[in-house]
Amino acid sequence: MSHRLLFVGPPGAGKGTQAERLAASHGLLHLSTGDLLRAEVKAGSDLGKEAEAVMNRGELVSDELVLAIVRSRLQNHSGGWLLDGFPRNLAQAEALNALLGELNQPLQSVLLMELDDEELVQRLLARGRADDNEEVIRHRLSVYREQTAPLINHYEQRGQLKRVVSTGTIEAVAEQINAALA
Ligand code: AP5
Repeated sequence: MSHRLLFVGPPGAGKGTQAERLAASHGLLHLSTGDLLRAEVKAGSDLGKEAEAVMNRGELVSDELVLAIVRSRLQNHSGGWLLDGFPRNLAQAEALNALLGELNQPLQSVLLMELDDEELVQRLLARGRADDNEEVIRHRLSVYREQTAPLINHYEQRGQLKRVVSTGTIEAVAEQINAALA
């Protein structure tokens, strides 16, 4: 299996749930930009204060800020990694490509997790995070379609994209992911 990979997919597709499991079972560093930003918000740092309102509106935090977070975590890490929720647009994908070239750690695989909008909304409403109310969820979905979905073609053209549909139990989705990445 690849040891340098990305998880892409709409909010609620199960990226975080599955990334955590896969990273634990394969000894990979799991980097979720959403989790790292929420930790900054919780700590009340300047970065967290800058990010909080943007996140609560369901929009994307600035590329510079997110890239700085990823760079600081990857540059001193020598093993495998799994990026979850980054990159989120083509500019972040280009910046990541440059960073990985610099670090001599080329990306190996991209996993796309897909699910119907209504199922995504129901899963997120059931979770109830600060950005999980219906209006913000629907806005996050439209931001995903406009800004993040172009990454699908981008990575497909590079021959790196694998797809799974995230219906079924967490266990069943994990099995599909193992098969897709084998
Ligand atoms: P982020 O934290 O990345 O959130 P997201 O992409 O909206 O994704 P979610 O965490 O909502 O969903 P997920 O796919 O990880 O699903 P999960 O496993 O949690 O980003 C949040 C915000 O941070 C962004 O809006 C933005 O402001 C900012 N941000 C982050 N990264 C950024 C970046 N790179 N650039 C700019 N801004 C950035 O599952 C969802 C729920 O479903 C859970 O309750 C889970 O238990 C449940 N579930 C999972 N699998 C199943 C299953 N098989 N069956 C039933 N329930 C399931």
